Amino acid sequence: MNFSYQNTTQIQFGQGQIESIKNLISKDSSVLVLYGFGSIKKNGVYDQVEAALSNYQWLEFGGIEANPTKETLDKAVAIAKSKNIDYILAVGGGSVIDGAKYVAAASCYEGDGWDILEGKYTITKALPLGTILTLPATGSESNANSVITKAETQDKLAFASAYVQPVFAVMDPDVMKTLPEKQLVNGIVDAWVHVCEQYLTFPTGALVQEGYAEALLKSLKNIADNFNQQDDMWRANLMWAANQALNGLIGLGVTQDWSTHMIGHELTALYGVDHARSLAIVQPSLLRNQLTAKKGKLEQMGRNVFGLSQRDDLAELTVQEIESFYQQLNVRTQLTEHVETKQEAIEKIIKRLQLHGMTKLGEHQAITLEESRAILNGAVA
Ligand code: NZQ
Ligand code: ZN
Repeated sequence: MNFSYQNTTQIQFGQGQIESIKNLISKDSSVLVLYGFGSIKKNGVYDQVEAALSNYQWLEFGGIEANPTKETLDKAVAIAKSKNIDYILAVGGGSVIDGAKYVAAASCYEGDGWDILEGKYTITKALPLGTILTLPATGSESNANSVITKAETQDKLAFASAYVQPVFAVMDPDVMKTLPEKQLVNGIVDAWVHVCEQYLTFPTGALVQEGYAEALLKSLKNIADNFNQQDDMWRANLMWAANQALNGLIGLGVTQDWSTHMIGHELTALYGVDHARSLAIVQPSLLRNQLTAKKGKLEQMGRNVFGLSQRDDLAELTVQEIESFYQQLNVRTQLTEHVETKQEAIEKIIKRLQLHGMTKLGEHQAITLEESRAILNGAVA
């Protein structure tokens, strides 16, 4: 077990915390506030931000779409550069926060920001970034990751850099009250799969990481079981669980497998499937494809998360429990959004995986394009 760990994001958790940003951003900052398509204007979050920034110089840039695009974000980069912005404040879900990370880094770079996604430029500088989370799901509010889409080519690529680790994350569960049911469900599913991607490999003997991953999975199951009894604690639990699922802790020093995400990103880029829903489509088929390699860990999850007893087919039963978890939330486990025939859709996705170098996925690099094709065969309706 070898790792280096630092998570410097200050978390301001709880009701009424938005106003605390005035103690977290230095007064002489020139702030660019980034947000999405206006949910924050309807639910009072924008008003709270405006009140907290009353003594600051600030500008705003709205219209960052779900699955944020380089094309939109470059407009914010141009504003940041021309108006001498020195602080970025993201107010939104994973898309706005990921987009803000791109803006924070690209604003300090002379070339095309997309170079970051293609690995042609390694970030050496970024504007400081603060976040106000409005949708618990991605953990982006306190991690160094970002996923950006180039609309022109339908490429959805990720980058990570310590320079874009948010300075602070405000997490007020009250902001979740206006989330549509669909987005709450997305949050539960995305967080669930984040834990799985760091846990469902092989038994590692890392007691703390595995034990904490199981605690998070049990919490998320409990949250899903009580979906119809949402109260302050329910919202707080979901917001904290989603954050902890991808703040780096459970993945320390253990082998991870992000193949469900990598294949899922192609479904989002090609067919516009919500990020979380793309994962529920890919994962059960992927786990079945990798059942032998993942048997030990699936059995452990069956026992420790679902309370099943040891038996010969426990790994397969665990996959069925995972599927039921999605179905209980009315999340489909097959891709129905494609317009081509099933085989054409599969070949199209395979081509994209190849283009993006996703040819040896999984903890043993055993998910080749051939395996991905078999996985998609089970995942595409
Ligand atoms: O644009 P507005 O009007 O704000 O509406 C948003 C958006 O339409 C709405 N919403 C957000 N907060 C709301 C609200 N509506 C009502 N009340 C509120 N309080 O929700 C919609 C979806 O928002 P989005 O930010 O797209 O969702 P999510 O947080 O699920 O983010 C998904 C993005 O994050 C990436 C995904 O690929 C996707 O692009 N990911 C980022 C990760 C990371 N940085 O670590 C990891 C993840 O695996 C994921 O890949
Ligand atoms: Zn995710």
